Amino acid sequence: MSVTDWYEIIEKHKPILLIESDKIVFYPSEGDGLVQPQKLTDTKTFFVSAVSHELFTPVTAIIGLVQMAKDGIYVQETLQKIEKHALKMQRILEQLVVLSKVEKEDFVPNLTELNLETLIKEILEEFKGRIEEKNLSFSINTRGLIKVDREAFKIALRNLISNAVKYSPHGGEIKIHFEKNVLSIEDRGVGIPESELKNVTARFYRASNVRTVPGSGLGLAIVKHILRRFNIVWAIHSKLNQGTKVFIKIERIDQSK
Ligand SMILES: Nc1ncnc2c1ncn2[C@@H]1O[C@H](COP(=O)(O)OP(=O)(O)OP(=O)(O)O)[C@@H](O)[C@H]1O
Ligand SMILES: [Mg+2]
Repeated sequence: MSVTDWYEIIEKHKPILLIESDKIVFYPSEGDGLVQPQKLTDTKTFFVSAVSHELFTPVTAIIGLVQMAKDGIYVQETLQKIEKHALKMQRILEQLVVLSKVEKEDFVPNLTELNLETLIKEILEEFKGRIEEKNLSFSINTRGLIKVDREAFKIALRNLISNAVKYSPHGGEIKIHFEKNVLSIEDRGVGIPESELKNVTARFYRASNVRTVPGSGLGLAIVKHILRRFNIVWAIHSKLNQGTKVFIKIERIDQSK
């Protein structure tokens, strides 16, 4: 895909938030459209405080549930709940480990060629339970080879797919397509109010229309940190009550399409 095509996406999908390695730009812009320069220095404090806060909830729940199990109360159900909280903790810690790795000055990415579709399917498998509960349908067309750091890229994609699943209505449709050199993840969910779109990659930020949906507001901040490390440009387009599209510019190494 040529540069022009990427700009076509921006032109076609306003309002759009474009995130490059060291800047975030909002179109349509007022003034120069620059939203905020990215802070590079505060990562450690940011994640230490965010993650300790995030871990508190599952740990506290597990302690309570273990007590119930010991008392012989609904043992099977209790164990299942414990497992759910433990898996949540595992995912948080996994994100943290990868983040601290990619943020290191001397980080050497482990670039491997991989099949995007296989990776997407692996991630969707993790969300199987929620996808079935919500009866979501998918249109997936992501065949193609890319060269990325698998571990880090998977975490970024997982956060984006998690949002598409979480903010879709019951029976919603999610499209994940890889065309030319752009991967897009599209849902028809609650969307983001236009005036708040520029804030969504800031840590802990949650839009005013999702207060009833659980979340910590960390997912997109993590995506931003990871993709920045690999100089991957991405963008978010959203319309309230219509849906959200995320575009990621990533070169396909098999030029079949
Ligand atoms: N696909 C989407 N549809 C609607 N709103 C979204 C979508 N993706 C992100 N948002 C908005 O951006 C906010 C920030 O997203 P982010 O993924 O960082 O946090 P979160 O989903 O609230 O929590 P978590 O840390 O569990 O991911 C969300 O709270 C929501 O308001
Ligand atoms: Mg999220």
